[in-house]
Amino acid sequence: MAKYRIGWLPGDGVGNDVMAVARRVLDALGLDAEYIHGDIGWEFWKAEGDALPQRTIDMLNSVDCALFGAITSLPKEECEAALVPELQGKGLIYRSPIVRLRQLFNLATNLRPCKAFKGNPLNYKDGIDLVVFRENTEGLYSGVEYHPVPDEVRDVLKKHNKNMGKYDAVAGEDLAMSCRIFSRGGCESIIRAAFDYAQQHGYKSVTVVEKPNVVRETSGLMVRTAREVAKDFPGIELWETNIDAMCMWLVKNPQDYGVLVSSNMFGDIVSDLCAQLVGGLGFASSGNIGTKLAVFEPTHGSAPKYEGMDKVNPLAMLLSAKLMLDWLGESELASKLEQAIAAVIAKGEARTYDMGGSTKCSEMADAVIAEL
Ligand code: IPM
Ligand code: MG
Repeated sequence: MAKYRIGWLPGDGVGNDVMAVARRVLDALGLDAEYIHGDIGWEFWKAEGDALPQRTIDMLNSVDCALFGAITSLPKEECEAALVPELQGKGLIYRSPIVRLRQLFNLATNLRPCKAFKGNPLNYKDGIDLVVFRENTEGLYSGVEYHPVPDEVRDVLKKHNKNMGKYDAVAGEDLAMSCRIFSRGGCESIIRAAFDYAQQHGYKSVTVVEKPNVVRETSGLMVRTAREVAKDFPGIELWETNIDAMCMWLVKNPQDYGVLVSSNMFGDIVSDLCAQLVGGLGFASSGNIGTKLAVFEPTHGSAPKYEGMDKVNPLAMLLSAKLMLDWLGESELASKLEQAIAAVIAKGEARTYDMGGSTKCSEMADAVIAEL
């Protein structure tokens, strides 16, 4: 029996291309694992009305962790139109399978390292080494949303908060509402994950990125929790920066920051900014980490126009595989893989299209394998 059981979720579009090369790299590294395919994505939405079928959920309950490629999602009307005729008009609703996975398995920590590898022509500046911790299940992704807003909900809100009176004259159909819900436990968990990581990896600061001057209750809870947790980590400074100013500082002085921690939506936004500072989506790896399961994925999408062309940069996927190896405790293999990736970038011979070259996805993987 293999040492690990790994769920294998290629998903849509270029997810298949990058997962194929990830497999070759993991085999070259000699990881002792069994890979179990899981159906996920657009194809299953169209045919079954479910992009994350129950059989895939069952499979994920039986593995150590999973690797995930990419997913296609489209606006509501197009989703409905794509269904096989038998499933149309049944009120099926497309929900992003990755967001569902995060919720279902309580993958509360989203880890997104953004490092400027030496020699990457796409680096915005050299010396950038940021790691974003994004709360992954709460906030604006809680899924408590209304349109129209039911009268009972409006009445209760008005009873408890006079600010709701501002909308008295607006009809329920003309109101939409998405609740930003934070729990103390959720805040504490993501802040602690950020500080633990900073401590283990020698970062000097953790910056909590919120907006407590305006969004007083939710961002306020996050920042107050951060101050509490910081007391347990005397060697690490806690910096508090508002999300808007943070975007500005990250463009101005990205080298000054280390670990960043934020809530779900702000973390989503700021992590794309950080990714672009170090070469964009072709370099953006991530881990969705829970207590029982972790799912590692490149943060790029499925890029349907490049599907099957062996074209896209697989490094985001390979760096996600590196995060998986770390999580499994295979730190030797993880650093071997990272060093090989760093060497390929530094040498500058293999350059995918996003880096201004014509190296193919599979050739980039060959280059990495040659450095192992
Ligand atoms: C991400 C993505 C997802 C998100 C989308 C695809 C639902 O942007 O992983 O950052 O919003 O979390
Ligand atoms: Mg995003």
